[in-house]
Amino acid sequence: LGQNIHYEESVDSTQKIALQLSLDGAPEGTVVIAEEQTRGRGRMARAWFSPKYTGVWMSVILRPNLLPQKAPQLTLVTAVAVVQAIEELTSIKPEIKWPNDILINGKKITGILTELQAESDRINSVIIGIGMNVNQELEAYPEELLTIATSLRIESGNRLNRAELIRLVLAKLEHLYDLYLQEGFQPIKLLWESYAVSIGKMITARMVQGDLYGKALGITGDGVLMLEDEAGKVHFVYSADIELQ
Ligand code: BTN
Repeated sequence: LGQNIHYEESVDSTQKIALQLSLDGAPEGTVVIAEEQTRGRGRMARAWFSPKYTGVWMSVILRPNLLPQKAPQLTLVTAVAVVQAIEELTSIKPEIKWPNDILINGKKITGILTELQAESDRINSVIIGIGMNVNQELEAYPEELLTIATSLRIESGNRLNRAELIRLVLAKLEHLYDLYLQEGFQPIKLLWESYAVSIGKMITARMVQGDLYGKALGITGDGVLMLEDEAGKVHFVYSADIELQ
């Protein structure tokens, strides 16, 4: 990964650029990195705060020969790669909140957005967007983010070299992606579970259809969250925001 890097000073969203490159036939492993995003995108149509020179805002094009319903697993592969890179560089052990939030002390350090292009039931490309809060200081954050977001600098007390962090994330991702393609989701699932905070806890899953409260039992072999409600019924949650109780 990262043999082919598109580096930009300022873009609206690296996801948008990567999507266009992938439609134009960019090879697997192409990476788009920007110093700033003016319209960074988060999950569920939210905005992603992407100030200049302080974070890692990047999108990676993958072209696995898989069914579209496997794409969410790649989000979990990426989450493990990011956590391993942070652990190696800072000795902080971050936690993963299903499906894709990476937290330190309960605050968000990284978000992952997986977008898919499929053709006749096969994946054509998956664009994995990774947004990492690296060198922001507290003052950088707008009021509404202060309680939910943090940065590696705030948590570790040190400025980090973003290029080094990018190299490490891409190296980990390449390794785990290969492992995933060769051995399937099982080894990734084990790694993912070792970092997951929500498993075994009472949570509220906020979904488009409404809220669901219960115990997070774990994830299925497909990366779907299993939640047991108070009546003992098990629900399969494909997409939601999780709130720990
Ligand atoms: C989330 O909602 O947690 C996902 C956030 C993903 C943000 C990254 S930053 C790089 C890439 N480009 C975007 O516009 N979004 C993703």
